[in-house]
Amino acid sequence: MHERIVAGGEGAGRYAKGRSTVTKGARLGQALRYHRNMITPPPSPAAATPQPPADYELMLRVAPMPADVNGNGDIFGGWVMAQVDIAGGLAAARRARGRVVTVAVNAFLFKEPVSVGDAVSFYTKVVATGRTSITVHVEVFATRKPSNPVTVKVTEATLAYVAIERSGVKREVPPEPPA
Ligand SMILES: CC(C)(COP(=O)(O)OP(=O)(O)OC[C@H]1O[C@@H](n2cnc3c(N)ncnc32)[C@H](O)[C@@H]1OP(=O)(O)O)[C@@H](O)C(=O)NCCC(=O)NCCS
Repeated sequence: MHERIVAGGEGAGRYAKGRSTVTKGARLGQALRYHRNMITPPPSPAAATPQPPADYELMLRVAPMPADVNGNGDIFGGWVMAQVDIAGGLAAARRARGRVVTVAVNAFLFKEPVSVGDAVSFYTKVVATGRTSITVHVEVFATRKPSNPVTVKVTEATLAYVAIERSGVKREVPPEPPA
């Protein structure tokens, strides 16, 4: 707060000239009010928060539990992989309008660790559709510290799913319904 007053340029100078008789405390209060109106507000935390691309959809949000922790005290990578597979499978099943199975995990990047207490959000996008297969990209964000939330991108992955009949035999992906 004090630094803002000292650093205030033109506006603070004009203020000082016209208010020489008021008390120091009143001057400080007025200067603060003046500056609140003059300075460009800092970017809001939301603006600085990493976000998934606009065309990704929130498919799953879940909080890991102490039972999901590895020997380092972070969340076990397998837990993250399982949730990614669930989120990707939900997106693929909706596109396939029915059952799917995971045929391949073609890319998986753990960028940051996940901790107990994080709210972990899984965003998905169907990036390709073949005759029987559907490729889904998943981006994962962890929101830490509920008291002062900070969101970081922790993982991204690309998985392929195959549309199947109830019997497990593969089937064609149906055409996309008209928008
Ligand atoms: C998935 C399954 C039905 C595929 O049967 P298949 O006869 O081997 O199928 P294909 O080799 O013809 O591949 C089917 C589709 O998957 C695609 N595919 C296969 N391997 C792939 C890979 N590594 N990456 C991306 N796509 C792949 C093929 O390109 C094909 O797509 P298209 O029809 O759109 O061209 C069969 O392999 C299966 O049941 N696997 C076990 C699935 C499972 O249990 N998953 C859970 C594991 S924990």
